[in-house]
Amino acid sequence: MPPKLAAYLTQKTAVIEQALNDYLTFSPDVPRELAAAMRYAVLNGGKRIRPALMLAVAELLSVAEAKILPVACALEIVHSYSLAHDDLPCMDNDAWRRGQPSCHKKFGEAVALLAGDTLQALAYEIIARDCPPESALELIKNLGAASGIYGMAGGQALDLSGAVKTLPELQKMHALKTGALLQYAVTAPLCLAETTEQVRRALQDYADAVGLAFQIKDDILDAVGTPETLGKTPGKDAGKNKATYVTLLGLEKAEELLAAETNKACTSAKIFGKENLLLAMAQYLLERKN
Ligand code: IPE
Ligand code: IPE
Ligand code: MG
Ligand code: MG
Ligand code: MG
Repeated sequence: MPPKLAAYLTQKTAVIEQALNDYLTFSPDVPRELAAAMRYAVLNGGKRIRPALMLAVAELLSVAEAKILPVACALEIVHSYSLAHDDLPCMDNDAWRRGQPSCHKKFGEAVALLAGDTLQALAYEIIARDCPPESALELIKNLGAASGIYGMAGGQALDLSGAVKTLPELQKMHALKTGALLQYAVTAPLCLAETTEQVRRALQDYADAVGLAFQIKDDILDAVGTPETLGKTPGKDAGKNKATYVTLLGLEKAEELLAAETNKACTSAKIFGKENLLLAMAQYLLERKN
């Protein structure tokens, strides 16, 4: 990873961790186990790619960090809820997440389910309470679209249905399941900034390409990663007969498509100059090991 990006991520993940911790500090009279499961599902060592991307875009658009931080946390909280549910026995039945027992392994299925529900509710509460009133509605609407039936949850349903067989179907599933929340990471700052149509379009294109690349890489890592580096169980997709870029096209072609999507992302990011955080991020996401 380029030293500039490494320094940026170290600094920003510390800010994000602190803010997430604050948002997940509850009054003493809440149900204790549920509160512990909510904290566990979020504060268990995610890479924080989505909030870091959001902060990077905000910086490029001159949106103050304090203004974007609640939205970045809300997104990471929704993402973490999606992982707690994704690991449940009725979904991927995965015992490991972020190098530790998955939420239901630690707290049981019912509490893990409720932790997902309450995290989702908390995310919207945070935006409604902490974002400028003139932007909050749009930020809420877009997060709802990105995480609901037109986004992540819709993609999860397609994934579980077993109906995805062709490459265009797979691409659509990836765009919903993973692309939509990454798209939100990149485009939410637009709700808080004045910018040109050209920049807006470049960010949309960057987000589309990075979103697809991210899930192609996740599929590749599922096929070739080890439990130690991944922090989750590899081989889940093949074992469950899931359609992925690797199961549909083979590893080599999947790598080629990953490189092609990364190139597309980089082309769009060049609107911010020859060297910038979004370029470095796209490259890091291509090379990541977990
Ligand atoms: C994993 O996302 C699930 C997908 C959407 C592919 P991440 O790889 O960002 O997981 P964490 O948050 O770092 O654990
Ligand atoms: C799920 O994709 C992405 C979500 C919307 C949670 P995967 O099922 O491939 O994610 P991992 O590999 O378990 O992290
Ligand atoms: Mg899954
Ligand atoms: Mg899974
Ligand atoms: Mg996966």
